[in-house]
Amino acid sequence: MDESFLPYKPSNLRESEWQSSQEETDEEDAALRHQTFQKEALESQEIAPIVANKNSAHENEDPNESTKIEITSEVPTLSIALKARDNPKYEIPSITEQVAAPDTHTKVALNTRPKLWAVGGGKGGVGKSLICANFAMLLARRGHSVVTIDLDLGGSNLHTCLGIEPPKIGVGDWIVQRVASLEELLTPTPEPGLQMISGSSDPISVVGLMENRGPELLKALRKLDVDDIVIDLGAGTHEMTIEFFNAADQGILSILPEPTSVENAYRFIRAVFFKKLRAADIPFGIKEVVDAAMDQKNILGIRTPADLLAIVDRLDEASSVKLREQIKHLSPSIVINQVRSQIDIDVGRAICSVCRRYFGIDVKYAGYIDYDNSVWRAVRSKKAIIQEYPHSVLANRIEHLTRALLGEEKGLFP
Ligand SMILES: Nc1ncnc2c1ncn2[C@@H]1O[C@H](COP(=O)(O)OP(=O)(O)OP(=O)(O)O)[C@@H](O)[C@H]1O
Ligand SMILES: [Mg+2]
Repeated sequence: MDESFLPYKPSNLRESEWQSSQEETDEEDAALRHQTFQKEALESQEIAPIVANKNSAHENEDPNESTKIEITSEVPTLSIALKARDNPKYEIPSITEQVAAPDTHTKVALNTRPKLWAVGGGKGGVGKSLICANFAMLLARRGHSVVTIDLDLGGSNLHTCLGIEPPKIGVGDWIVQRVASLEELLTPTPEPGLQMISGSSDPISVVGLMENRGPELLKALRKLDVDDIVIDLGAGTHEMTIEFFNAADQGILSILPEPTSVENAYRFIRAVFFKKLRAADIPFGIKEVVDAAMDQKNILGIRTPADLLAIVDRLDEASSVKLREQIKHLSPSIVINQVRSQIDIDVGRAICSVCRRYFGIDVKYAGYIDYDNSVWRAVRSKKAIIQEYPHSVLANRIEHLTRALLGEEKGLFP
């Protein structure tokens, strides 16, 4: 049968195995797998459901007593929030008069060209550079003018995935102001229409400076005269990494179907979520509640984003509306990389539904990539996968992934 009719069959499954898994009628089994996965996810620190902080200072208060505000904390809104959490009858004073903190985290520009894509993952070695390089190449093959930039400043190696030698200059030179414009850094790649901006050969002097120059870099990227910019982000949840992920028009998260990677992906999504909330135009006091909630051991006992929103609902309706509005536009796509079985594929759906349920955000499952020896073969021979093995199952998967990301076909979830 033509492979293209079965775009999501893992290459390590035989045709008969794939067919039987497709015809699988035992829905209980599948549901159980999802439940187990969700249960494991729930037990992880990031997304455990709210457990009211029993050690809170308000433990002994009468929950039915309707009291007037008594500000005991140095941070008034936190004190109000504590009362609001513990006592449904608590009279909440208006806090909307508080001055809104200046918003420093909003998108730099709202024009649609170039379109910014950012590939993150929360963890090293999960295929960020692989996805970034090959996705950028496929965009260029569609006739787009594309730039891909290596912002993994501590471990720049995107050039290897693109099949080129390390360029002599990179974004590090722009950050330390050795070069004035990003255009000077554009390096051709073997794919016509695709250029790259390398990272840094001197990460130690550059990483610290990036904090200051990040917003300016975003502005400069938006000014490049191309259709698409694909950013390869570093591992982890560094402030700047999250900033770029949120500033992009579309964030892509590469995840391996193994607990460490899934755990880091949730941590990444959590960081993205909170950063987004902080960017809302809300009163200073509410920002402090959001900040407090970011700390897993916060005094409010807030464990999940849903808990946070529930408290803000009671504190200030207008802020609650704004926070929900912020998350409404948060819709990262995930890719499961190094898939070996149907269960691995299901991990992507489970992550999406957990994110929907506990963060209330619309995470899309754009597709998956099989574990395939041709990846390291291509890396070893310093060639891009889709150039070295253009007719492989893997190249086909990345093509489907690209189509899903471009909205040309439906992804795997929802
Ligand atoms: N689908 C795959 N099949 C087989 N091996 C893979 C696959 N994807 C990635 N790898 C292996 O994992 C390595 C890391 O991939 P990649 O460099 O894309 O990850 P990364 O997330 O960018 O890592 P880093 O955080 O170090 O930049 C590759 O060199 C390759 O050997
Ligand atoms: Mg990388």
